Amino acid sequence: MALLPPSNFSSPGKDAATDTSRLFSAAKPAETAYAKTEPARPATTPGASSGASGSTLAADIAKRLAERAAERAAAANAAPPPRPVAFASSLAARSAADAAPSSSSTSSSDVASRIASMIASSKPAVPVASGITTPSAGLKKLRIADDEFVQLRELIYTLCGIFIADSRKYLVENRLTNRLKELNLKSFGEYYHFLRFDKSRTTEVQQLFDVITTNETSFYRNPPQLKTFQDIVVPAEIEKLKNAGQRKLRIWSAGCSTGEEPYTIAMILSEVLRAQLPAWDIKITANDLSEGVVRAARQGIYNEYALRTTPQDIVQRYFTKSEMSYHVKSDLKRLIQFGQINLSDTGMIKRQVERSHIIFCRNVIIYFDDEMKRQVIESFYDNLLPGGCLLIGHSESLHNLSRAFKPEHQTGTIVYRKQA
Ligand SMILES: C[S@@+](CC[C@H](N)C(=O)[O-])C[C@H]1O[C@@H](n2cnc3c(N)ncnc32)[C@H](O)[C@@H]1O
Repeated sequence: MALLPPSNFSSPGKDAATDTSRLFSAAKPAETAYAKTEPARPATTPGASSGASGSTLAADIAKRLAERAAERAAAANAAPPPRPVAFASSLAARSAADAAPSSSSTSSSDVASRIASMIASSKPAVPVASGITTPSAGLKKLRIADDEFVQLRELIYTLCGIFIADSRKYLVENRLTNRLKELNLKSFGEYYHFLRFDKSRTTEVQQLFDVITTNETSFYRNPPQLKTFQDIVVPAEIEKLKNAGQRKLRIWSAGCSTGEEPYTIAMILSEVLRAQLPAWDIKITANDLSEGVVRAARQGIYNEYALRTTPQDIVQRYFTKSEMSYHVKSDLKRLIQFGQINLSDTGMIKRQVERSHIIFCRNVIIYFDDEMKRQVIESFYDNLLPGGCLLIGHSESLHNLSRAFKPEHQTGTIVYRKQA
């Protein structure tokens, strides 16, 4: 069994998660204030399935919004519920995930404009053939009124679990101005109604997901964790399966963005198994809320910037180079099954994701509130096979969210284990 030498992991590039963790302690008062009034998630599981028909989707949204409104009314009459300690940090984490506005009229933190400026500086962090919408240059940002913001934020949370703090209002303006212009709408109130009642609302919800999500990622992100995965987690899992006379390994990359994470997992498995690989039945299920990033992930075409922390020998083994782009080799692609999924939809997870030996969900739950985090972590627990493990982002923790997993402390990372 040939493993990558430790030196492959010894020069990590800048991990965005590490950067954001620095900002966690600086939760803004406005966010804390909102946290005190934010109602709990509805008791019923949100079911905003992308596959729902227009009328099913509308009825579903209406039902869940009504539940949220009832809960808000009840919460207003009751004493404020105690907040878990982790709540403030989860809000700060979400805040940290996007840069602060550089000025009132620019959209530098906007995913799309970030892509545009990265392309301009020839260092884009997204695949060459990304499905993400890019706004017209110089587009004048539309303003969102406070009540429109609360209404839209509630809808977004209900649809996918992403929570946008008060201080991120500018982010909604930045990211959605282009959608309003394209639909010829004059206000965010009109956009809300479009999302709720228009006959093309199902398509628009997909566009909303594409622009509202933050898709920052790269190959070989978080090297200490990947070293543990390569040197400890995978060999132990393989040994266990072999001893049980099995050759079937299932890994889930939840919130895979443009594919760098599942392709990295596939490369590491190939490095560990080498000549034995063809004898194994391996499937990496990789999915994301945004159709745009899933489309890009399937193509598997990247530029040099996406490979900035990838060891050179790995680049040579698993990519073919064509002018300015790098194409993932088809042998590697065959190990991965890409698809769209909404992690806030427990039923969808049960229907679509085969039970896994290992789950990666890195830098995704930082966008959720604690209720949604708990729900998603519980789904992961249910999905994992006995003895399986969960790997989360560098700045994330299960503290105050779940006691079901046993944390295994490894060098620079924690592996969360489900009891065998
Ligand atoms: C910052 S990226 C992380 C990518 C990769 N896991 C990594 O660590 O490099 C977060 C991803 O989570 C996805 N996401 C957010 N909410 C989601 C949801 N409710 N269901 C599925 N994916 C979601 C976003 O679309 C985005 O691509």
